[in-house]
Amino acid sequence: MKVLLFGKNGQLGWELQRSLAPLGDLLALDRYDQHYCGDLSNPRGVAETVRALRPDVIVNAAAYTAVDKAESENEAAHIINAVAPGTLAEEAKRCGAWLVHYSTDYVFDGSGDKPWQEDDQVSPLNVYGQTKLAGEQAIQASDCRHLIFRTSWVYAARGNNFAKTMLRLAQERQQLSVINDQIGTPTGAELLADVSAHAICRALKTPEVAGLYHLTAAGETSWYDYAHLVFDYARTAGLELKTDKQSVSAIPTSAYQTPAKRPLNSRLNTEKLKTVFDLQLPAWQLGVERMLSELYSK
Ligand SMILES: NC(=O)c1ccc[n+]([C@@H]2O[C@H](COP(=O)([O-])OP(=O)(O)OC[C@H]3O[C@@H](n4cnc5c(N)ncnc54)[C@H](OP(=O)(O)O)[C@@H]3O)[C@@H](O)[C@H]2O)c1
Repeated sequence: MKVLLFGKNGQLGWELQRSLAPLGDLLALDRYDQHYCGDLSNPRGVAETVRALRPDVIVNAAAYTAVDKAESENEAAHIINAVAPGTLAEEAKRCGAWLVHYSTDYVFDGSGDKPWQEDDQVSPLNVYGQTKLAGEQAIQASDCRHLIFRTSWVYAARGNNFAKTMLRLAQERQQLSVINDQIGTPTGAELLADVSAHAICRALKTPEVAGLYHLTAAGETSWYDYAHLVFDYARTAGLELKTDKQSVSAIPTSAYQTPAKRPLNSRLNTEKLKTVFDLQLPAWQLGVERMLSELYSK
């Protein structure tokens, strides 16, 4: 079996290189690949790549993920997050391949406090969310065999993420303010990659599992409580932080202006995924502590 991976060096792409390797012949591309076009800002180029390689499974971990920058780079975000996934879907349909793709809780407007289900009303608040939603819709419209996983608050030992930013800031500053009214679930790229590999194996045997799924770790938290878990771990590991416990203030989203609006309720209901794929999802704290232990041994 041939597996073609786009976006091999992102948080998720890096972990997918590991988890997809046992499935078959894996060709992993980044946007600078010398032999095949892996640049999603060139949809025609990635179509040619698929036609040349005729993979059985295409996994797209590439995306325009700079949420604030997308507000002013609408066109680039649209091509990478919406047009190129649509092109990959058409090419997957043409050669009979599966397409595995990732989307986001930012397709929802963040209202209420219930975990969002897959078929709940979508209504993105920002350009990134709009382009990711358009990508989902283009894949669904192509009628290719697909798995789309909406996830949230992704982190990995490799790459930049909230936990690493907090640790850097806490080493530099005596006071920190962290948002406490956005609620979601930190989800490790390792977990996403492992579940993807499991789901692909299942889909190859039972194609009727094709569709859209919510995939996060279990539980929920705010950025503020997430930051505290990270700081507690770091202190126990002997890391010197300038910010002490009492000097971390909880602030509302309204007190922290960013170019892109963010949803308050990022909870995703994962029941469909767990039922269809017979999976249990671990508590979010386990994955975060595992990442921290890779960065700082206790
Ligand atoms: N990060 C989150 O919190 C989060 C939350 C919800 C959903 N998601 C979704 O989860 C998936 C994986 O995200 P991630 O956290 O792994 O993101 P990431 O670490 O930012 O990785 C994205 C990758 O896409 C690549 N890329 C950007 N533009 C490209 C282009 N024109 N052609 C080819 N590759 C390009 C980047 O390459 P360079 O390194 O060269 O820029 C990077 O390797 C994405 O679909 C994302 O939308 C992420």
